[in-house]
Amino acid sequence: MLKVTAETRLVGVIGDPVRHSRSPLIHNAGFEALALDWVYTAFPVRAGDGAAAVRAMRVLGIEGLSVTMPHKDAVAAAVDRRTPAVDALGACNCVAREGDELVGHNTDGDGFVAALRAEVGMDVAGVCAVVLGAGGAARAIIDALGRAGADRIIVVNRTAAKAERAAELSDRGRVGSLDDIASADLVVNATSIGMAGGPSPAGIGLDPALLHPQQVVADIVYQPLRTPLMVAAEQAGATVVGGLGMLLHQAAAQFELWTGLAAPLEAMRSALDHPC
Ligand code: ATR
Repeated sequence: MLKVTAETRLVGVIGDPVRHSRSPLIHNAGFEALALDWVYTAFPVRAGDGAAAVRAMRVLGIEGLSVTMPHKDAVAAAVDRRTPAVDALGACNCVAREGDELVGHNTDGDGFVAALRAEVGMDVAGVCAVVLGAGGAARAIIDALGRAGADRIIVVNRTAAKAERAAELSDRGRVGSLDDIASADLVVNATSIGMAGGPSPAGIGLDPALLHPQQVVADIVYQPLRTPLMVAAEQAGATVVGGLGMLLHQAAAQFELWTGLAAPLEAMRSALDHPC
């Protein structure tokens, strides 16, 4: 049973909406597993108040923040220092203390790459990847794939201008079409298509015949756990990765930045799989 005292260190997530967030479950399970006197909560912070939340972190001695919609850009601008990923993306999903400085990180893309390695043993160095989407999540993934040595990163998106900007995040990036999927080692759905209550699964419009057994097909959507793309990929014999892996590994990277300790992945994963 968690006992909060005057010694307890505080971390949390800022966002709007944020009460649905699974991050408290994941991080508190990690603290419990390592018997750390830390607690993680959710702070509903309205649009426009991201920089004020960073100031509050400083004043109140909050150890770290996870940052979600709609604050990723404002927080990137408000921290003392940014990692190269945050500079490239203009978006920050984690603030950590380093001495007197508040440092902005973005663990989304590296979390995705770590999930591929942990869940299906894929090393993205040298692969040809097709990324569907060009929003915040897709941009983080494109940037991380480039830094991790992917050979080609082909961006496919409904809005062409956004695809162009996203492809520019890596010197191995270019804009392509769904036909490029046939020659890809890795296919990533980084759109909201397939999400429960989101755009229709038909929205991707990809021909399942383009999928094949030599591919890894990853979906960042985790509600539902098995998306229509994952079902189609399984039927095509591809290796499939669901969205919970990225959620877990981006959180694990934040946990490590704050505590300086290796994240207890099994306990954190189990909190996701068995939320109650
Ligand atoms: P996030 O930050 O979670 O990535 P986002 O920035 O809103 O969210 O991006 C959502 C992505 O899903 C975008 O690539 C978007 O395509 P556009 O850039 O053309 O808007 C894509 N997307 C959302 N709904 C879509 C739909 N019905 N058909 C095709 N693409 C869609």
